[in-house]
Amino acid sequence: MSRSISSRPRTTPRLELRPFRRRDVEALIAAVGSSLEELERWLPWAHSRYGRPDALRFIRDSAAAWVESRAYDFAIRRPESPDRHVGNISIWPTSRRERSGEVGYWISSSETGKGIATEAATSVLTVGFEEMALHRVTMRIAVGNAASERVAQKLGFVHEGLLRKEVMVGGEWLDHTLWAMLEDEYRVERDRWVEKRWAEA
Ligand SMILES: CC(C)(COP(=O)(O)OP(=O)(O)OC[C@H]1O[C@@H](n2cnc3c(N)ncnc32)[C@H](O)[C@@H]1OP(=O)(O)O)[C@@H](O)C(=O)NCCC(=O)NCCS
Repeated sequence: MSRSISSRPRTTPRLELRPFRRRDVEALIAAVGSSLEELERWLPWAHSRYGRPDALRFIRDSAAAWVESRAYDFAIRRPESPDRHVGNISIWPTSRRERSGEVGYWISSSETGKGIATEAATSVLTVGFEEMALHRVTMRIAVGNAASERVAQKLGFVHEGLLRKEVMVGGEWLDHTLWAMLEDEYRVERDRWVEKRWAEA
């Protein structure tokens, strides 16, 4: 699983996913700023003073993490408007011995409700199962985050349980539900994703 993962862009029927570049900084700040109300409900890093230092740190860390095989962060863009930031999606290994990994994402509020998270997730799951050779991929979703639970369900993840008071967000401990997909489940689901036109064959 320590094989290096190509930094080439990945495509889905409507989207391009590619590693972050330094010049993404302004588009990233704009997308975080316009999505703050949603982001700060669920994600510990989002805050009202999010600005250039935060975005630059994220982009720098993201490049280092990729080289060190710690995490693969993708900027989600639409090919017809490549300068507008649509969202972030990441996959990272959680145990090399067990070949497990995890997915996380957020979508700019002006782009939610259009199937973007689901479509982008099919692409990073393909990276996870095909390129990272993962056996199991998890998602942890805050209780009450119905949109994200729906994404997990649409993809075919199985709800496994509850992680109590797992992450501190806005000064409060949030419970998370744990969702997972196994390698053999991915093989079945991927054909369905292609049929749904969420993924390319
Ligand atoms: C969660 C999030 C990534 C979803 O992105 P998205 O691109 O809108 O997701 P999709 O369009 O692929 O799917 C969302 C689904 O949730 C449904 N949904 C949205 N809000 C909902 C709600 N309040 N209750 C129930 N379902 C809801 C949508 O109808 C859609 O389902 P459908 O296709 O069956 O109609 C986005 O809302 C977001 O970034 N939220 C803030 C950050 C976050 O929560 N990140 C995830 C942390 S685990």
